[in-house]
Amino acid sequence: MINPDLLRQELQEKISLVSSLEELNQLKASVLGRKGQLTQYLRSLGELPLEQRKILGAQLNSLKVELESFFLARERELEEAMIREKLEKGRVDVTLPGIRPPLGRRHPLFQVWEEIEDAFLSLGFDIYEGPEVEWEYYNFGALNIPPDHPARDMWDTFYITDKMLLRTHTSPDQIRCMEEQRPPIKAIMPGLVYRHEAVDATHMDVFVQIEGLVVDKDTTFADLKGILELFVSLIFGPGRKTMFVPSYFPFTEPSAELLILWDDEKGHNAAGGKWLEVLGCGQVHPQVLRNVGLDPQVYSGFAFGLGVERIAMLKYNIPEIRLFMENDLRFLEQFG
Ligand code: FA5
Repeated sequence: MINPDLLRQELQEKISLVSSLEELNQLKASVLGRKGQLTQYLRSLGELPLEQRKILGAQLNSLKVELESFFLARERELEEAMIREKLEKGRVDVTLPGIRPPLGRRHPLFQVWEEIEDAFLSLGFDIYEGPEVEWEYYNFGALNIPPDHPARDMWDTFYITDKMLLRTHTSPDQIRCMEEQRPPIKAIMPGLVYRHEAVDATHMDVFVQIEGLVVDKDTTFADLKGILELFVSLIFGPGRKTMFVPSYFPFTEPSAELLILWDDEKGHNAAGGKWLEVLGCGQVHPQVLRNVGLDPQVYSGFAFGLGVERIAMLKYNIPEIRLFMENDLRFLEQFG
């Protein structure tokens, strides 16, 4: 004989013990489905005598309604538990320390390049830029270095055609600048230069120069010296030992070179107290002024061309110029 109360108790317990939606659906099908336990009971009512059928029929039908609501309630509970679990798992602990992504930094050569530009900008210079692939005329001819001049040996270069080359210095930008602008001119011209050079600890075949040019009515060699000394103190701080020595460039007269003592501020030196040449300079040659249509009786000027790698080597006590090009992170990461 079917006891609806016992059946309710038993099924209620089963429903409460189910731990997943899948299990619950299976249980539901086994009770209320087409071939389910309760469905079977309801179908078998027909075999009972009328009185019994009426009573048991009413009890089983109300049990069916009750069970449906039990199943629904348990389904909601399980769904909520699932959502809670998902939220728990996906929770972000904002108090945990983060993982810092590796930070890139400027290449030390570009840092120094920028520092040099800033120093000259603070002294009232403008920035002018010229091409790296240059006409032979600008690299040599206009700078008072005719084709048969022995000074061409100082700047052995890579030719692209007979008349076109990779510039060996930034001095051709002096000519371009004077062709485009009339005095007063006060400009620096930075950029890469190329030389067919035997590479060693202080010489590269590609390096950075910054040219400087001042043209006006009454410039003097003393102005040139004063500006360069100011520049050195801006980059290295006061008291850095420098030396001007006479030199020769076909496009300046007189000409000089500036040497800096290879000693850092703590007195350690990378090269045993050597002097390192950092730039060539001089007063603009009258013929160069004539080449750009300026009258040397009216105008005068001075120019300099410095090596950025050399300045960086002195500033950071780096004994080897090739380190700038090797991209070794152990070297590069030392420059914040
Ligand atoms: C020149 O290039 C001249 N144009 C400089 C100049 C400009 C003179 C204006 C007068 C007026 P020089 O070849 O000496 O000169 O090079 C100038 C600077 O560039 C050197 O003092 C040095 O600091 C740097 N330099 C020269 N050759 C190399 C090299 N192979 N590798 C790295 N730096 C170099």
